[in-house]
Amino acid sequence: MSLLQIEKMTHYFGGLRAVHDYNLEIEPGQIRGLIGPNGAGKTTIFNLITGIYSPTEGRIHLEGKDLIGLQPHQVASLGLGRTFQNLRLWRHMTVLEHVMQARYSKLTYGVVGALLGTPKRYRQEAESERIAYELLDLVGVKHLADQVVINLPYGAQRRVEMARALAIEPKILFLDEPTAGMNLEELSQIMETIRRIHNEFDLTIFLIEHRMKFVMELCDVIQTLVFGEVIAEGTPEAIQNNPEVIDAYLGKEIET
Ligand SMILES: Nc1ncnc2c1ncn2[C@@H]1O[C@H](COP(=O)(O)OP(=O)(O)OP(=O)(O)O)[C@@H](O)[C@H]1O
Ligand SMILES: [Mg+2]
Repeated sequence: MSLLQIEKMTHYFGGLRAVHDYNLEIEPGQIRGLIGPNGAGKTTIFNLITGIYSPTEGRIHLEGKDLIGLQPHQVASLGLGRTFQNLRLWRHMTVLEHVMQARYSKLTYGVVGALLGTPKRYRQEAESERIAYELLDLVGVKHLADQVVINLPYGAQRRVEMARALAIEPKILFLDEPTAGMNLEELSQIMETIRRIHNEFDLTIFLIEHRMKFVMELCDVIQTLVFGEVIAEGTPEAIQNNPEVIDAYLGKEIET
């Protein structure tokens, strides 16, 4: 069975058809890419799957479970972690607090345990903190654990978002333009980090990107979206050599 399966998903914003007849099957362990021009509907697809919007039509299943109608936190608790194109961090919270907050959904000591401060509570919180530090280490920002997010450079903030997404112990991780705003050096570093995350947890990843070198090196299979429709799906090589993709998109992108 596929990990994530989407059939005939269509979404309208008023009269604008942002996504049309979209299909996707992701197998466990894959790194999948979604590319396409600005406004093609890529982020909308992420928002439809993660419960921010409900599709006008179509079916979405994660490990066979129907996601339609679920709230974003319910989709997350089924194992879907994500980062955002425009960072969504709490400016005055520390790096560690971001990851700890995400882990609260994993704690099981209950209200009474929280009030009474039971041993189970302390044990679980200590364990959660240990995992949080490990995740921060994995994405390369452990040394910044006590800093408030507002003081961090953009690249570090993107890494905090990744650690937060991993903190829910996802089965699949969605990354919306993880390299946005990064220079070439940061680009190769973040690529290494994503590879490390993938290898460490054998984690399935679905990412949106404009930087072609990054997409082509990382992904097993890539979809190209234009005006809300997939015009091509295949290996990086097949996508790079597809005349329709070159015409509609790649020919206009900067080769980085
Ligand atoms: N909440 C919304 N209400 C109305 N229209 C929207 C909304 N969100 C997105 N759109 C429109 O839907 C289309 C797809 O937008 P989307 O953000 O999904 O594109 P994208 O492929 O992620 O683009 P980019 O590469 O610039 O991030 C665009 O025309 C956009 O203006
Ligand atoms: Mg987008």
